[in-house]
Amino acid sequence: KSEETNFVEKLINYVKCNIISVNFHLIRNEILNMEVRDDDIWVCSFPKLGTTWTQEMVWCIANNVNLEAAKSDLNERFPSLEKAHLPYNLLPIKLQQNVTNAKIVFVIRDPRDVCISYFHFLKLFENDGNFEEFCQMFLDGRLTYGSYWDHRLSYWNQRHSSNVLILKFEDMKNDLKSVIHKTANFLGKNLTDTEMKKVLDHLSFERMKENHAVNQRMSFGILEKYDIIKTKGSFIRCGKVDQWKTVMNFELEKKFEKWEKENLRA
Ligand code: A3P
Repeated sequence: KSEETNFVEKLINYVKCNIISVNFHLIRNEILNMEVRDDDIWVCSFPKLGTTWTQEMVWCIANNVNLEAAKSDLNERFPSLEKAHLPYNLLPIKLQQNVTNAKIVFVIRDPRDVCISYFHFLKLFENDGNFEEFCQMFLDGRLTYGSYWDHRLSYWNQRHSSNVLILKFEDMKNDLKSVIHKTANFLGKNLTDTEMKKVLDHLSFERMKENHAVNQRMSFGILEKYDIIKTKGSFIRCGKVDQWKTVMNFELEKKFEKWEKENLRA
Protein backbone atom coordinates (compact mmCIF):
# COMPACT_ATOMS: atom_id res chain seq x y z
CA LYS A 1 0.00 0.00 0.00
CA SER A 2 1.19 3.51 -0.66
CA GLU A 3 2.07 5.75 2.25
CA GLU A 4 -0.92 7.93 1.31
CA THR A 5 -3.40 5.02 1.47
CA ASN A 6 -1.97 4.00 4.81
CA PHE A 7 -2.29 7.54 6.05
CA VAL A 8 -5.93 7.88 4.97
CA GLU A 9 -6.79 4.54 6.60
CA LYS A 10 -5.11 5.57 9.85
CA LEU A 11 -6.79 8.95 9.80
CA ILE A 12 -10.26 7.48 9.20
CA ASN A 13 -9.65 5.04 12.04
CA TYR A 14 -8.48 7.86 14.31
CA VAL A 15 -11.58 9.97 13.59
CA LYS A 16 -13.85 6.92 13.98
CA CYS A 17 -12.30 6.09 17.36
CA ASN A 18 -12.81 9.64 18.58
CA ILE A 19 -16.44 9.69 17.43
CA ILE A 20 -16.95 6.38 19.23
CA SER A 21 -15.28 7.67 22.42
CA VAL A 22 -17.53 10.73 22.46
CA ASN A 23 -20.66 8.72 21.66
CA PHE A 24 -19.72 5.80 23.86
CA HIS A 25 -23.31 5.12 24.87
CA LEU A 26 -24.01 3.98 21.28
CA ILE A 27 -21.72 0.97 21.64
CA ARG A 28 -22.07 0.40 25.37
CA ASN A 29 -24.18 -2.73 24.95
CA GLU A 30 -21.91 -4.15 22.28
CA ILE A 31 -18.99 -3.90 24.69
CA LEU A 32 -20.93 -5.25 27.67
CA ASN A 33 -22.02 -8.28 25.63
CA MET A 34 -18.68 -8.81 23.94
CA GLU A 35 -17.20 -12.33 23.82
CA VAL A 36 -14.32 -12.80 26.24
CA ARG A 37 -11.66 -15.40 25.48
CA ASP A 38 -9.88 -17.54 28.06
CA ASP A 39 -6.49 -16.20 27.03
CA ASP A 40 -7.51 -12.52 27.01
CA ILE A 41 -5.38 -10.13 29.04
CA TRP A 42 -6.95 -6.73 29.63
CA VAL A 43 -4.72 -3.83 30.68
CA CYS A 44 -7.02 -1.22 32.19
CA SER A 45 -6.24 2.26 33.43
CA PHE A 46 -7.19 5.88 33.64
CA PRO A 47 -5.19 7.97 31.14
CA LYS A 48 -1.55 8.77 32.00
CA LEU A 49 -1.05 6.09 34.63
CA GLY A 50 1.61 4.24 32.69
CA THR A 51 -0.77 2.31 30.43
CA THR A 52 1.74 2.03 27.59
CA TRP A 53 4.52 0.90 29.92
CA THR A 54 2.28 -1.77 31.44
CA GLN A 55 0.99 -2.90 28.03
CA GLU A 56 4.55 -3.35 26.78
CA MET A 57 5.50 -5.25 29.94
CA VAL A 58 2.47 -7.55 29.71
CA TRP A 59 3.00 -8.10 25.99
CA CYS A 60 6.66 -9.04 26.52
CA ILE A 61 5.82 -11.44 29.36
CA ALA A 62 3.00 -13.08 27.40
CA ASN A 63 5.19 -13.41 24.30
CA ASN A 64 8.34 -14.84 25.91
CA VAL A 65 10.21 -11.54 25.52
CA ASN A 66 10.24 -11.77 21.73
CA LEU A 67 11.88 -8.40 21.12
CA GLU A 68 12.03 -9.00 17.37
CA ALA A 69 8.22 -9.21 17.20
CA ALA A 70 8.02 -6.25 19.61
CA LYS A 71 9.41 -4.03 16.86
CA SER A 72 5.96 -3.57 15.34
CA ASP A 73 3.68 -0.79 16.59
CA LEU A 74 2.26 -1.51 20.06
CA ASN A 75 -1.11 -0.15 18.92
CA GLU A 76 -1.30 -3.09 16.53
CA ARG A 77 0.13 -5.70 18.90
CA PHE A 78 -2.08 -4.57 21.78
CA PRO A 79 -5.31 -3.08 20.43
CA SER A 80 -7.13 -0.47 22.51
CA LEU A 81 -10.83 -1.06 22.86
CA GLU A 82 -12.21 1.98 21.03
CA LYS A 83 -9.53 4.09 22.77
CA ALA A 84 -11.63 4.06 25.92
CA HIS A 85 -10.11 3.79 29.38
CA LEU A 86 -13.20 1.96 30.59
CA PRO A 87 -14.18 1.84 34.26
CA TYR A 88 -14.72 -1.66 35.65
CA ASN A 89 -18.51 -1.57 35.38
CA LEU A 90 -18.32 -0.91 31.62
CA LEU A 91 -16.07 -3.89 30.88
CA PRO A 92 -17.68 -6.90 29.15
CA ILE A 93 -20.04 -8.65 31.57
CA LYS A 94 -18.30 -12.01 31.19
CA LEU A 95 -15.05 -10.38 32.25
CA GLN A 96 -16.70 -8.75 35.25
CA GLN A 97 -18.33 -12.03 36.25
CA ASN A 98 -14.97 -13.82 36.09
CA VAL A 99 -16.48 -16.78 34.25
CA THR A 100 -13.52 -17.26 31.88
CA ASN A 101 -9.78 -17.45 32.49
CA ALA A 102 -9.36 -13.91 31.13
CA LYS A 103 -7.25 -11.59 33.27
CA ILE A 104 -7.30 -7.90 34.13
CA VAL A 105 -4.18 -5.89 34.96
CA PHE A 106 -5.06 -2.49 36.41
CA VAL A 107 -2.54 0.28 37.05
CA ILE A 108 -2.68 3.05 39.63
CA ARG A 109 -0.50 6.16 40.07
CA ASP A 110 -0.41 9.14 42.40
CA PRO A 111 -3.23 11.32 40.98
CA ARG A 112 -1.15 14.50 41.37
CA ASP A 113 1.44 13.09 38.95
CA VAL A 114 -1.36 11.78 36.72
CA CYS A 115 -2.78 15.29 36.50
CA ILE A 116 0.61 16.78 35.56
CA SER A 117 1.19 14.08 32.96
CA TYR A 118 -2.30 14.61 31.51
CA PHE A 119 -1.68 18.36 31.24
CA HIS A 120 1.52 17.83 29.28
CA PHE A 121 -0.08 15.16 27.12
CA LEU A 122 -2.83 17.54 26.01
CA LYS A 123 -0.22 20.19 25.27
CA LEU A 124 1.03 17.89 22.53
CA PHE A 125 -2.20 18.79 20.77
CA GLU A 126 -1.58 22.53 21.14
CA ASN A 127 -3.39 22.99 24.39
CA ASP A 128 -1.65 25.92 26.03
CA GLY A 129 -4.13 26.17 28.89
CA ASN A 130 -3.40 27.32 32.37
CA PHE A 131 -2.10 24.62 34.73
CA GLU A 132 -4.15 25.69 37.79
CA GLU A 133 -7.37 25.72 35.73
CA PHE A 134 -6.51 22.33 34.32
CA CYS A 135 -5.98 20.95 37.84
CA GLN A 136 -9.38 22.25 38.85
CA MET A 137 -10.97 20.47 35.87
CA PHE A 138 -9.17 17.28 36.86
CA LEU A 139 -10.37 17.60 40.47
CA ASP A 140 -13.92 18.26 39.27
CA GLY A 141 -13.83 15.21 36.97
CA ARG A 142 -14.50 17.45 33.95
CA LEU A 143 -11.84 15.96 31.66
CA THR A 144 -12.42 13.12 29.21
CA TYR A 145 -12.98 9.88 31.19
CA GLY A 146 -14.45 11.81 34.12
CA SER A 147 -13.65 11.30 37.76
CA TYR A 148 -10.28 9.81 38.65
CA TRP A 149 -11.64 8.33 41.89
CA ASP A 150 -14.79 6.80 40.37
CA HIS A 151 -12.57 5.05 37.89
CA ARG A 152 -9.92 3.93 40.38
CA LEU A 153 -12.37 2.74 43.02
CA SER A 154 -14.34 0.76 40.43
CA TYR A 155 -11.23 -1.49 40.08
CA TRP A 156 -9.96 -1.18 43.64
CA ASN A 157 -13.20 -2.72 44.88
CA GLN A 158 -12.37 -5.82 42.79
CA ARG A 159 -8.84 -6.21 44.18
CA HIS A 160 -9.64 -9.55 45.86
CA SER A 161 -10.96 -11.09 42.65
CA SER A 162 -8.71 -13.89 41.35
CA ASN A 163 -8.64 -12.43 37.82
CA VAL A 164 -7.56 -8.91 38.86
CA LEU A 165 -4.00 -7.72 39.45
CA ILE A 166 -3.42 -4.14 40.61
CA LEU A 167 -0.01 -2.58 39.92
CA LYS A 168 1.43 0.75 41.02
CA PHE A 169 3.40 3.04 38.73
CA GLU A 170 5.56 3.96 41.74
CA ASP A 171 6.47 0.27 42.34
CA MET A 172 7.39 -0.09 38.68
CA LYS A 173 9.76 2.84 39.08
CA ASN A 174 11.26 1.58 42.35
CA ASP A 175 11.57 -2.12 41.61
CA LEU A 176 10.54 -3.10 38.11
CA LYS A 177 12.00 -6.58 38.46
CA SER A 178 9.63 -7.46 41.32
CA VAL A 179 6.67 -6.09 39.39
CA ILE A 180 7.63 -8.19 36.35
CA HIS A 181 7.88 -11.28 38.58
CA LYS A 182 4.52 -10.58 40.18
CA THR A 183 2.86 -10.00 36.77
CA ALA A 184 4.47 -13.11 35.27
CA ASN A 185 3.18 -15.20 38.20
CA PHE A 186 -0.28 -13.77 37.75
CA LEU A 187 -0.19 -14.60 34.04
CA GLY A 188 1.16 -18.09 34.68
CA LYS A 189 4.48 -17.39 32.95
CA ASN A 190 8.04 -18.01 34.03
CA LEU A 191 10.87 -15.84 32.74
CA THR A 192 14.42 -17.13 32.49
CA ASP A 193 17.21 -14.92 33.88
CA THR A 194 18.19 -13.97 30.33
CA GLU A 195 14.63 -13.03 29.45
CA MET A 196 14.37 -10.97 32.64
CA LYS A 197 17.57 -9.11 31.83
CA LYS A 198 16.38 -8.42 28.29
CA VAL A 199 12.95 -7.20 29.33
CA LEU A 200 14.30 -4.98 32.12
CA ASP A 201 16.50 -3.20 29.63
CA HIS A 202 13.73 -3.02 27.03
CA LEU A 203 11.28 -1.46 29.53
CA SER A 204 13.69 1.13 30.92
CA PHE A 205 12.59 4.74 30.48
CA GLU A 206 15.51 5.56 28.16
CA ARG A 207 14.80 2.61 25.84
CA MET A 208 11.05 3.17 25.79
CA LYS A 209 11.49 6.87 25.03
CA GLU A 210 13.53 6.15 21.92
CA ASN A 211 11.50 3.09 20.84
CA HIS A 212 9.20 4.11 17.97
CA ALA A 213 7.06 1.01 18.43
CA VAL A 214 5.84 2.34 21.79
CA ASN A 215 6.49 6.09 21.92
CA GLN A 216 3.62 6.86 19.51
CA ARG A 217 5.98 8.32 16.89
CA MET A 218 4.41 5.90 14.37
CA SER A 219 0.91 7.32 14.81
CA PHE A 220 1.83 10.90 15.75
CA GLY A 221 4.56 11.21 13.14
CA ILE A 222 2.23 10.79 10.20
CA LEU A 223 -0.31 13.25 11.61
CA GLU A 224 2.48 15.78 12.16
CA LYS A 225 3.74 15.27 8.65
CA TYR A 226 0.39 16.34 7.27
CA ASP A 227 0.21 19.19 9.76
CA ILE A 228 -2.80 17.77 11.58
CA ILE A 229 -1.11 17.86 14.97
CA LYS A 230 1.96 19.81 15.97
CA THR A 231 3.58 18.02 18.85
CA LYS A 232 5.77 20.03 21.17
CA GLY A 233 7.10 17.25 23.34
CA SER A 234 7.18 13.49 23.67
CA PHE A 235 4.47 11.06 24.64
CA ILE A 236 6.98 9.32 26.91
CA ARG A 237 7.91 12.52 28.69
CA CYS A 238 9.86 12.29 31.96
CA GLY A 239 8.50 9.20 33.75
CA LYS A 240 9.13 10.51 37.27
CA VAL A 241 7.58 9.84 40.65
CA ASP A 242 6.59 12.75 42.94
CA GLN A 243 6.85 15.35 40.22
CA TRP A 244 4.05 17.23 41.94
CA LYS A 245 6.44 18.17 44.77
CA THR A 246 8.30 20.51 42.45
CA VAL A 247 5.38 21.56 40.25
CA MET A 248 2.43 22.21 42.55
CA ASN A 249 2.17 25.18 44.88
CA PHE A 250 0.98 24.92 48.48
CA GLU A 251 -2.60 25.88 47.58
CA LEU A 252 -2.88 23.16 44.92
CA GLU A 253 -1.34 20.63 47.27
CA LYS A 254 -4.02 21.40 49.85
CA LYS A 255 -6.78 21.14 47.23
CA PHE A 256 -5.58 17.69 46.21
CA GLU A 257 -5.31 16.61 49.83
CA LYS A 258 -8.89 17.70 50.57
CA TRP A 259 -10.17 16.08 47.37
CA GLU A 260 -8.46 12.78 48.23
CA LYS A 261 -9.91 12.74 51.75
CA GLU A 262 -13.42 13.51 50.49
CA ASN A 263 -13.30 10.84 47.81
CA LEU A 264 -11.82 8.14 49.97
CA ARG A 265 -14.33 8.76 52.71
CA ALA A 266 -17.32 8.56 50.35
P1 A3P B 1 4.91 11.41 32.39
O1 A3P B 1 4.07 12.29 31.51
O2 A3P B 1 4.80 11.79 33.84
O3 A3P B 1 6.32 11.36 31.94
P2 A3P B 1 0.08 6.44 29.59
O4 A3P B 1 0.79 5.42 28.79
O5 A3P B 1 -0.99 5.90 30.47
O6 A3P B 1 -0.40 7.58 28.73
O7 A3P B 1 1.13 7.05 30.63
C1 A3P B 1 2.17 7.91 30.20
C2 A3P B 1 3.12 8.13 31.36
O8 A3P B 1 3.91 6.96 31.58
C3 A3P B 1 4.09 9.27 31.06
O9 A3P B 1 4.35 9.93 32.29
C4 A3P B 1 5.30 8.48 30.55
O10 A3P B 1 6.50 9.18 30.58
C5 A3P B 1 5.30 7.32 31.54
N1 A3P B 1 6.13 6.20 31.06
C6 A3P B 1 6.00 5.48 29.92
N2 A3P B 1 6.97 4.56 29.83
C7 A3P B 1 7.75 4.69 30.93
C8 A3P B 1 8.93 4.03 31.42
N3 A3P B 1 9.52 3.05 30.73
N4 A3P B 1 9.44 4.44 32.60
C9 A3P B 1 8.84 5.43 33.31
N5 A3P B 1 7.73 6.10 32.91
C10 A3P B 1 7.20 5.73 31.73
